Amino acid sequence: MTPYRLCFLDFFILSLLCSFSVHAHPLTTPSLAPPADPKFLSLALTAPPVNNALKELQQSNITQPHAYIIHQQHLNHALSRFAKMTNRSKSLTREILVNAMNNRIGTIPKRFRGVHWMREPQSGDNVGLSIWGQDLGYIATAQLGTPPRDFRLLVDSGSADLWVGGEGCESNDGGDSCGPHPLLGPSSSSSFAYISNVSTFDETNPPWILNYVTGSVSGVLVQDDVTIGGVKIQSHAFGAALRESNDFTRDDIPFDGLLGLAKKDVSQQRLPPLLSSLYNASLISAPIAAYKLPRSKDHHNPATVQGELTIGALNRALYDPRTLVQVENVNPFGYFGVQMGGVVVGGKDMGWSNRTGLVDSGTVLVVAPQMDVDIIHSNIPGAVKSPSDAAAGEPGTWSVPCDMKTRVGIKVGGRTFELDPRDVAMWPVDNGSGGGNSDGGDAGGTHPRRMCVSGISPGTVGPFHLDTDWMLGSVFLKNVYFATDEEKDVVLMARLK
Ligand SMILES: *[C@@H]1O[C@H](CO)[C@@H](O)[C@H](O)[C@H]1NC(C)=O
Ligand SMILES: *[C@@H]1O[C@H](CO)[C@@H](O)[C@H](O)[C@H]1NC(C)=O
Ligand SMILES: *[C@@H]1O[C@H](CO)[C@@H](O)[C@H](O)[C@H]1NC(C)=O
Ligand SMILES: *[C@@H]1O[C@H](CO)[C@@H](O)[C@H](O)[C@H]1NC(C)=O
Ligand SMILES: *[C@@H]1O[C@H](CO)[C@@H](O)[C@H](O)[C@H]1NC(C)=O
Ligand SMILES: *[C@@H]1O[C@H](CO)[C@@H](O)[C@H](O)[C@H]1NC(C)=O
Repeated sequence: MTPYRLCFLDFFILSLLCSFSVHAHPLTTPSLAPPADPKFLSLALTAPPVNNALKELQQSNITQPHAYIIHQQHLNHALSRFAKMTNRSKSLTREILVNAMNNRIGTIPKRFRGVHWMREPQSGDNVGLSIWGQDLGYIATAQLGTPPRDFRLLVDSGSADLWVGGEGCESNDGGDSCGPHPLLGPSSSSSFAYISNVSTFDETNPPWILNYVTGSVSGVLVQDDVTIGGVKIQSHAFGAALRESNDFTRDDIPFDGLLGLAKKDVSQQRLPPLLSSLYNASLISAPIAAYKLPRSKDHHNPATVQGELTIGALNRALYDPRTLVQVENVNPFGYFGVQMGGVVVGGKDMGWSNRTGLVDSGTVLVVAPQMDVDIIHSNIPGAVKSPSDAAAGEPGTWSVPCDMKTRVGIKVGGRTFELDPRDVAMWPVDNGSGGGNSDGGDAGGTHPRRMCVSGISPGTVGPFHLDTDWMLGSVFLKNVYFATDEEKDVVLMARLK
């Protein structure tokens, strides 16, 4: 099977949405006590060179919100997921998130509001609370129905359901279609069957509904053939969406549905997830999802630009087996988290041992308690906390020199996994021309070095805050090969090869 690769470059440097290529692999070398000949599927992705991305950005007249707004969108997104994964959703309301965004907009110094690729903050930036807004997503292509057709699925560790648009799908904010996406149903697939009675579909009491910060998706239960990684599973049961909010129907949404990889307990459709079904059918060796996230900044090194989602076992070709650790899952709510053995900044151990970290490929930032974030940055030479945030009563966003060299390491299972400084220094705060103070604050004067928003963010919005839990998003996870094993209820982590 020929790998199929296609990357979508969003306007902002890190907003890459990439398609995985899908093909099956045999594997002969064992990892931590796997079966002799583990079966797994691998789904590859690539990231385009960041230099080209920057060039395109600068040559175009595309205007994006200021880096702080994009940062707040990521933070709101991360905390929404955190709240869901820790059963605290009730204490993080939409109002809290909207207020946090409005406060953030208020703290951006006026002179930053015209930097050439950034535009004035607008009230519409609140729409960026959208769970998908500006976020990095990884997309796998699977074939559904007969004849098989390609559906691009957003791989989501924050849910355990599979859904695509069903024939007759309507946008639940007024539109009468679900955008330019393929739909599945009896007129396009001869192997398709409804499980729910579609003629009695009632959107106020649907067979399944998934709620997101800004909207929801609901629909009926169906079954059809699904081919993933070249492996076909017949009459798999999943969801066909009949009502979708505009987060999913917009023309620029480059996926046609979701593939949830969290534990089966959190399935809202109350169906065995695809991972369970593949395992139950002995098509894979274990209910394992393993991730190697691509890093666009590694454009010069094709080996590390390449990402992969592995389903069923660890792919030994991707990691250094001597560095493999296995730790118990500390999240009791259907997601995955690890006990953190400590944090090391620039070689200095912070002496923390009672932190936990949720492992979430659907989150970009590393989010931590405010105190931890302050201490970490006070150990990064040149890091600056935005004074305007403090003035506005905000927790304080940190900026770091874009060329920072300090290594931040997180200990898991007795091993320290370091973050590449390029992942911590995320987005430039301005265009680095010295045309204004670029410290991420507004103290006046010009900093000799270009400053970037830090990818390690305080987990505070309004009254909602983190105590000892961290959220480990792709800023950290890009640096490791990591896997979740639902059966053993463990997380595995290793250094990338
Ligand atoms: C970009 O904007 C400038 C100034 O507004 C304009 O002169 C130029 O034609 C625009 N370029 C494109 C490609 O739209
Ligand atoms: C989640 O929190 C709610 C209260 O908001 C509680 O009733 C419920 O039992 C909790 N669920 C679990 C699994 O602990
Ligand atoms: C579906 O619901 C309609 C309307 O209530 C009913 O007439 C029909 O028999 C139902 N079909 C099935 C398969 O239950
Ligand atoms: C597992 O497969 C068996 C048949 O091999 C089937 O009876 C059972 O329902 C399946 N369970 C799940 C959870 O898919
Ligand atoms: C865990 O860490 C927090 C924050 O540093 C601290 O206040 C608390 O005392 C620690 N708890 C234990 C049991 O060590
Ligand atoms: C951005 O950079 C360009 C040249 O690279 C400079 O002319 C412009 O003034 C800069 N804008 C700001 C707001 O710093």
